Amino acid sequence: MNLFIYDNPAAWAAGIAELWSERLRSNPGLRQCLPTGKTPNSVYAEMAKRVKSGKTSFAESTGFLLDEFGGLSPEDPGSCNRMIRDELINHVDLPESSFHLLNAQSHDLEQTCREYDQKIGAPLDLVILGIGQNGHLGMNEPGSDIDSLTRKVELHPQTIQASARYLTHNNLPTWGVTLGLRQIFQAREVWLWANGASKAEILKQAISGPLTTDVPASLLQKHAHCTFFVDRVAASALVKFA
Ligand code: F6R
Repeated sequence: MNLFIYDNPAAWAAGIAELWSERLRSNPGLRQCLPTGKTPNSVYAEMAKRVKSGKTSFAESTGFLLDEFGGLSPEDPGSCNRMIRDELINHVDLPESSFHLLNAQSHDLEQTCREYDQKIGAPLDLVILGIGQNGHLGMNEPGSDIDSLTRKVELHPQTIQASARYLTHNNLPTWGVTLGLRQIFQAREVWLWANGASKAEILKQAISGPLTTDVPASLLQKHAHCTFFVDRVAASALVKFA
């Protein structure tokens, strides 16, 4: 596991964007899984700038959405579909046909999940993740099976509460659909992005705590090509590195 620490959030976003652009240059057909939430937005804005100025391109790559909330319209500003479109897809050159959503509105979620796994097929080149304050990855909550595939999940109370930050109403989602831990751990490369003081304590558990499904992010310690990208404030509880 690698740990990259940046001095401030601006350096963090710029540094990640530089490396991501490098991956797209060396492998234009990059097959990547994309998170939503608040954390990725500054990186996505950097990537949009780079695409506009011709410094990078998603044109030949493929994107898979990491997860989606249940019970929200796809147009709800808090849905992962809306967030990823508003923050990244609408501002870069990734073709619509190369972007794959998780349809949480499907009447047959089981089938939708199997089809998603089939679409992914071979291990992804790059899975990008944020981290929940309970250590969840995507919506793989504490206790998730290491071998889990794309599936419907019940959200942890902390995740339900955290979702209020994305929403303009009080109908908080109680479930979601997420890429499984198996696909995350099979990826050739995994990046975890985190910044800010609110992530300091869980990062300490994920990076230097015991490997346990109680903290899904701790399992990343055993992935051969995993990098945690954090800013100095998020790294502040990592005594050894701070
Ligand atoms: C988002 C996702 C979540 C978030 C995590 C952190 O697609 O899967 O695991 O990455 O909850 O959310 P933020 O970035 O809003 O703090």
